[in-house]
Amino acid sequence: MNSFSSIPVVTIDGPAASGKGTLAAGLAAALGFHLLDSGLFYRMVGWKALDSGVSLNDEAALTRLAAELRPRFDGETVWLDGRDVSLALRRQEVGTAASTVAAWAGVRAALLHAQRMARRLPGLVADGRDMGTVVFPDAVCKIFIMAGVEERAQRRHKQLIEKGLPSNISTLLQEIGERDARDAGRDVAPLKAAPGALEIDTTKLDAPTVLAQALAYCRSRLAPANG
Ligand code: C5P
Repeated sequence: MNSFSSIPVVTIDGPAASGKGTLAAGLAAALGFHLLDSGLFYRMVGWKALDSGVSLNDEAALTRLAAELRPRFDGETVWLDGRDVSLALRRQEVGTAASTVAAWAGVRAALLHAQRMARRLPGLVADGRDMGTVVFPDAVCKIFIMAGVEERAQRRHKQLIEKGLPSNISTLLQEIGERDARDAGRDVAPLKAAPGALEIDTTKLDAPTVLAQALAYCRSRLAPANG
């Protein structure tokens, strides 16, 4: 095992608005690990495509956009091309564009290295769709979370309203359903649980309960690696 692959990684995969971000942040804080929100990379490519008028069907142009991304992260703030895009990246239409560009193999390959570079000591919690299957297949602890589509639409609605962004529950329900189908149905790195992942259905669970279950699991998996 080389020194890079000995850095522990916890992966959290699951569909849109299943609670991945909340769980990932809670686990990273509890374990003292770094945090990778891999969806941000696909959102940045989606945002750049919309902003610069690149077609979401043009794989070659989108792959160039992905390869040339030079984001700067400053706490919660994301800078791209000298602009603070943190809030824009959260918009529903950017999420939809992200899921469209994410289906292109070229885009995914261009983003792989940047995601793997987030693996730093003392460890990493990575959330997305293919963290446990493709990006960090050797992760010591893999979690797959899901929740009913109506519950997820309600959660995303609340998040968007809290951020002062526009939101409509029936549009959200439709968009999340379409995004699930695209993310799970694509040929490259489709959304699915990694073999051996702990699966948690969060529909009827509150965030502290999910965190407690996940943390107990991760600690049991991390202990032998650390000891
Ligand atoms: O997680 P988030 O909703 O921010 O991700 C936006 C979109 O980016 C997802 O719908 C998915 O299509 C894509 N994505 C992906 N692989 C990841 C993370 C996100 O394909 N690891």
